[in-house]
Amino acid sequence: MTGSIVAMAFSVLFGTGLLYFFLVTRGALIANAFVPRAQDRFHVYWVYSNMRLIKFSDRKTWVAAVLLFQYDRLVDKVVSEIRRASINGKTFLMTSCAFGDVMPKVVKALVRGGAGHICISDLIGNELIHAGKKLNEFHGKFELAEADATCMPKDDGTVDINLIFFLFHELPDESKKLAFSEAARLTAPGGKLIIAEFHRPRKRIMRFLGCMYFTVFEPFALSMWGQYDPVHCLEGMGGWTCERATYFFGNFQVVTATKTA
Ligand SMILES: C[S@@+](CC[C@H](N)C(=O)[O-])C[C@H]1O[C@@H](n2cnc3c(N)ncnc32)[C@H](O)[C@@H]1O
Repeated sequence: MTGSIVAMAFSVLFGTGLLYFFLVTRGALIANAFVPRAQDRFHVYWVYSNMRLIKFSDRKTWVAAVLLFQYDRLVDKVVSEIRRASINGKTFLMTSCAFGDVMPKVVKALVRGGAGHICISDLIGNELIHAGKKLNEFHGKFELAEADATCMPKDDGTVDINLIFFLFHELPDESKKLAFSEAARLTAPGGKLIIAEFHRPRKRIMRFLGCMYFTVFEPFALSMWGQYDPVHCLEGMGGWTCERATYFFGNFQVVTATKTA
């Protein structure tokens, strides 16, 4: 009896969580197709634009669950790649905010390493306000900038280290292409572009489950497994050497690309 009550409570909780996740991600894309919205942000989930939803949803456990509990490993890798790029005096850009503690960890490493300039940009003002609060302890040591990853208001070759953490899979394909070329344009010769993203899993069962998940919740993500694979895109542009580390049966990747020319 107690067992079935616990099982029922768990099912209700799990079902409610899935429904909430659907509404704030895919639900937003469906609604945005009907409600007039600026063309450059019709792809943005409500969970990133509404301040109440941002505050409610920015919980590390939730983000970690979406990333199959690989979040800490991915963040650790990103931070170690930033440190490896020798930070002192360098110009750093994080193109788009992210939930969890990736921003505080990255900014802490940058401040300690003596970065010359730290900028965090995002398309959505509320995300930047929220980021500012999360980074309160580093007040005055970073800049927040409202900017679209597909047309960045920065000069060519002005960024030494550019971090893009799980943004590409949320962009429509045409925007992915523009965001890759903007990231390439901004990076200084010898500079690093660090990309954390989904990757095509090695196991067929994981590809099947991943395919179902993306089809239901994140329809722009599947092309990250093929045409918009970061290494494929950057090497296709020429002038980049890429190193890739994959995680959890190949489900995730951190790519560190160095601009050679
Ligand atoms: C980086 S992705 C989410 C990553 C992951 N789900 C997480 O939170 O860890 C979400 C961010 O991308 C931003 N974003 C979406 N489209 C963008 C664009 N074209 N340019 C800049 N930022 C964008 C959203 O406003 C949001 O803050």
